[in-house]
Amino acid sequence: MKNKVKVGIIGLGAIGAVHADAYRAAPDAEIAAICDIAEARLAALGGKYDVKRRFKDYRDLLKSDLDAVSICVGNKLHRSVALAALKAGKHILLEKPMALNAGEAADIAAAGKKAKKIIQIGMVWRQAETTRVVRDYVQKGFFGNIYHLRAVLIRRRGIPGLGGWFTTKAASGGGPLIDLGVHLFDAAMYVSGLWQPTRVSAMNYAKFGKDLRNYRYVSMWAGPPNYNGVCDVEDYSAGLVRFGKKASLVFEIAWAANTEDVQFIDILGDKGGARIFDGKPLTIFTEHNDLVANVSPLINEGANTFHRQADIFIKACQGKCPPAATAEQGVTLMKLIDAVYASSQGGREVAV
Ligand SMILES: NC(=O)c1ccc[n+]([C@@H]2O[C@H](COP(=O)([O-])OP(=O)(O)OC[C@H]3O[C@@H](n4cnc5c(N)ncnc54)[C@H](O)[C@@H]3O)[C@@H](O)[C@H]2O)c1
Repeated sequence: MKNKVKVGIIGLGAIGAVHADAYRAAPDAEIAAICDIAEARLAALGGKYDVKRRFKDYRDLLKSDLDAVSICVGNKLHRSVALAALKAGKHILLEKPMALNAGEAADIAAAGKKAKKIIQIGMVWRQAETTRVVRDYVQKGFFGNIYHLRAVLIRRRGIPGLGGWFTTKAASGGGPLIDLGVHLFDAAMYVSGLWQPTRVSAMNYAKFGKDLRNYRYVSMWAGPPNYNGVCDVEDYSAGLVRFGKKASLVFEIAWAANTEDVQFIDILGDKGGARIFDGKPLTIFTEHNDLVANVSPLINEGANTFHRQADIFIKACQGKCPPAATAEQGVTLMKLIDAVYASSQGGREVAV
């Protein structure tokens, strides 16, 4: 159909396949080209989605007649591929984390402004229906003043691709903090509306992965391990973020720790609060009719979050709505993550 948004996908690994599935389900999107350095992935995804234009070099894909691209390569390539795509006049849906650090992220944001193209960052947790509902409660004042956030994601043994790009700082930018922390920080700040982190005090630890051959695990995302590879990133990060004198956020984020798996974000206001991403039905903790009360909104989680993310991106490319997560917010997240690393390295509180 003539008015479909023609998209290309660069990087056809775990998440590239998820983007392809989401575009296939989006009525206004057409997967017009794909790219990966791995021939087998090009053939598999090209065959599955009947995509004829297949490239091994993303610069060749960018010469094609496309409106937009999803950038689904490893973190180290985000900046160079994003800059090339924007220069080639494509809108971009850029996977998280936006880049290896805030400096790189700022380069991408500036290039987007110059090219007048849409940049949407892959902050897919925003697309959960619970996230939308709780944000709406916050915006309508039901929670009163939000003064504290708790963001926790602990995996007992969850180091991904040990020895590969995930655990090599030069390729990933860091460990669970940049990989998962970016989702937690984004969701907490998006729901609460607290977008001005000012100071951070944090400690990072590397206790499990650094001794590659002695890392015991049950299963491994992006495995098997490469024992000849590198693991020079943290596996645990904990700290306190200040939002001036107004509010705070405590976080604990781990790929590995000797404790139970646990995951949640608490949003605490003086009139109400909620815990999200804990896998349980939503409860609003509040007061009602002079009583301490729980409110249990009945929510239909509905569509797949990656499908929603792709739908919004396609609509943004058509000029129908803003992108779901902006480059400016991506830069703020990267500044916060940089500050966590700086605080841990320096052994002191630092400005964001
Ligand atoms: N939003 C989410 O929840 C989520 C989940 C997983 C991964 N991610 C992000 O997606 C990105 C990719 O992660 P992944 O798990 O899919 O990694 P992956 O290693 O499974 O896939 C990366 C793909 O990029 C290809 N590639 C490498 N160099 C290339 C190049 N120069 N040109 C084209 N293709 C190239 C690889 O061959 C591979 O197929 C990362 O930034 C990661 O943080 C996001």
